[in-house]
Amino acid sequence: MTATSNVFPDGFLWGASSAPHQNEGHNVNSDMWALEHLEGSPFSEPSGAGVDAYNRWKEDIDLVKSLGLTAFRFGIEWARVEPSRGAFDADELAHYRQIIDYCLAQGVEPVITLHHFSSPLWFAKEGGWGSPEAADRFGDYVTAVSQILHGVTWVATINEPNIFAVMYQMSLPLQYPDPAAVFAHLAEAHAVADSEAGLNAFSMPAPTEEAAQIMLTAHERARTILHEKTSARVGWTIAIQGLVAREGHEDQLDHYRRIWEDIYLEASRDDDWVGIQSYTSQLVGPNGLEGAPAGEEVTQVGWAYRPDALEMALRRAWEVTGGTPMIVTENGIATDDDSRRIDYTSGALAGLARTLEDGLDVRGYLHWTFIDNFEWVHGYAITFGLVAVDRTTFDRTPKPSAYWLGEVARSNGAAIPA
Ligand code: BGC
Repeated sequence: MTATSNVFPDGFLWGASSAPHQNEGHNVNSDMWALEHLEGSPFSEPSGAGVDAYNRWKEDIDLVKSLGLTAFRFGIEWARVEPSRGAFDADELAHYRQIIDYCLAQGVEPVITLHHFSSPLWFAKEGGWGSPEAADRFGDYVTAVSQILHGVTWVATINEPNIFAVMYQMSLPLQYPDPAAVFAHLAEAHAVADSEAGLNAFSMPAPTEEAAQIMLTAHERARTILHEKTSARVGWTIAIQGLVAREGHEDQLDHYRRIWEDIYLEASRDDDWVGIQSYTSQLVGPNGLEGAPAGEEVTQVGWAYRPDALEMALRRAWEVTGGTPMIVTENGIATDDDSRRIDYTSGALAGLARTLEDGLDVRGYLHWTFIDNFEWVHGYAITFGLVAVDRTTFDRTPKPSAYWLGEVARSNGAAIPA
């Protein structure tokens, strides 16, 4: 393809993404923190101090800016804002407002996630996302947060509702006296789902319609509140797997697209924007969703190396939503070979440029992730970051890919290799 200098519109957002539980550290009032410390927990290590972003957020925003990036995605942590039910912490709200103010003052566009997998422990103990009160409780939190969102344009209610619709069951052990037994039960159920296939790249069994409904209700509630109380553009961020049918298995493709993606994308038709999160592509065959084909390059987490997946995801989302503006809110690769990160990202961006050429409305590209962080059950061994961190001193060191993406940003896409 040709150089893409004129394809990216003025004001296209170039940035990187993070998440509160994965970066801040010491998220002690959250369900994830509790789960990390339970007997029988699937977490390989606890999140501990994270990358100390709760204290080093200014340094991080300065680094984003100095690299030449123009946007930063971060989240507000519900467990900090409402550490016990109904008790909203004004200091924590002020803390997040300070981060927003600093971004705005630096000319770094904040893209804010209100829920990124972790919830307050009290909420999980009361039944969490399985409780009929979930949307009301989430709505109370969103109402409180809306007070600090003035001047913010991009707000995502829930991160990856299509993955979280399965993942939220992880907090079930917190509701029972014998957590280890519940973990064992979940692992068994998971193994059955495994053998029945239908797993997406995250190795998760498919979400149920019921779980989807919970996410949809909570999202709609949050969107209504945010539209009433703020001038933010509201959406949510969806994991899109770049699903492709093996010949003769188009019906299965339709089925998996529906339960994994389309339900959520259809809900985005009424949103102001939708976040696209893409890492890989998967085949759908006679036994359902397939893992990476034998012999293909895989990343640290076993996903097929597929820079082309982003273009597939953007085109699919555009088709299903019927034209909701998109921001790539996550795209990246788990690797300790940073040259593969540059190669992957440059392939993904070339695909993004082709979608712009075809008239798709893509407003920004936020790489996952800014700094090597806590990769959930895998812990810190998995490195998705543009920036390395010393786990003792928390010193940040940008990798070549960070400087490279900064150059791409400064040139507004012209520096993407042809
Ligand atoms: C999540 C991130 C996660 C990333 C890589 C996405 O599912 O939003 O929290 O770290 O993928 O696994």
